[in-house]
Amino acid sequence: MIEITNLYKTYQSNEGNVEALKGVNLKVEKGEIFGVIGFSGAGKSSLIRCVNMLEKPTEGSVRVNDLEMTELTKHKLREARKKIGMIFQHFNLLETCTVFENVAVALELSHTPKGIINEKVNNLLNIVGLEDKKNNFPSQLSGGQKQRVAIARALANNIDILLCDEATSALDPQTTEAILELLLDINRKFKITILLITHEMHVIKKICDKVAVIEDGVIIEEDTVLNTFTRPKTQTTKNFIKSIMEDELSESVLKELRTKKENNKILRLTFIGGSAAQPVLAIIAKELPLWPNILCGNIIQIKNQTLGRLIIELTGDCHSIEEGIKILKDHNVITEVLKYD
Ligand SMILES: Nc1ncnc2c1ncn2[C@@H]1O[C@H](COP(=O)(O)OP(=O)(O)O)[C@@H](O)[C@H]1O
Ligand SMILES: [Mg+2]
Repeated sequence: MIEITNLYKTYQSNEGNVEALKGVNLKVEKGEIFGVIGFSGAGKSSLIRCVNMLEKPTEGSVRVNDLEMTELTKHKLREARKKIGMIFQHFNLLETCTVFENVAVALELSHTPKGIINEKVNNLLNIVGLEDKKNNFPSQLSGGQKQRVAIARALANNIDILLCDEATSALDPQTTEAILELLLDINRKFKITILLITHEMHVIKKICDKVAVIEDGVIIEEDTVLNTFTRPKTQTTKNFIKSIMEDELSESVLKELRTKKENNKILRLTFIGGSAAQPVLAIIAKELPLWPNILCGNIIQIKNQTLGRLIIELTGDCHSIEEGIKILKDHNVITEVLKYD
């Protein structure tokens, strides 16, 4: 479990002080995959680096598994860090060491017997799918393979927590998918809590349970990923969602709508899980004198749940439209009326 309370981080530089974190509060439960998303410069790396004290907080508390990290002696901090793995955007591998040696290094530092190191490293390389590359050097690997080595290295100490600083940001989309699958697998199999930071909503949607949005050193929004996608509160969050799910009408469609004479309403419908499978539009058209017209639609997968989003034009008399909206809501469809003039 990670509990961050009232965390401040100020960097002193020649141009003056930079306040990278301004009173951050965050709680990551055991076994969770928690994502922090924000634009470049928002304070993400500062935040994640304060968890294992790679950066010393200026003020505030960071508790990891009930240890107050800001108060540990050097020796105690070294011990605590063994339980916290970290992977980075640019992998940070030892270029002159082989894959095997890169993974073995932490075990050698803790004086693990050679036989055990051998067995453990081979097992870890098996988990990340790199058995056949153990004698290669990092320069002979692709980006995805390098990140796999970094993951195996992080796992070597039987960690409880894995910190990921933009771990897929240097990878192509296909490799990103594979690495995210691997992280999901590790989370499930070994019950490792994952705190990750990213600027890509896709990463959040694919593997995270909860998400916090950080802007200018402040957490501006925090919830489960599903709630955040369903009811985003801030414009920044809406913009991140828009990057993977179009849910606004184009100017040309709006223009056409404004010229219409019939009585209509524009609705944004959100379907979660079960409600995605029901033919609700057919139901309202059958029961009432209504003509639903789909203007825009998306179905996305959020971890293991389905989220559908439609924007429809509903044409009919005022009373029927109100009745139709009631039926939609009765079928657990989140229904919002959009203004378009
Ligand atoms: N070592 C440092 N010295 C001075 N300023 C820094 C240092 N590290 C980060 N910053 C500044 O702190 C702010 C947040 O940076 P960072 O945490 O790296 O953001 P992100 O990871 O979201 O891009 C930025 O304005 C950055 O320039
Ligand atoms: Mg960063």
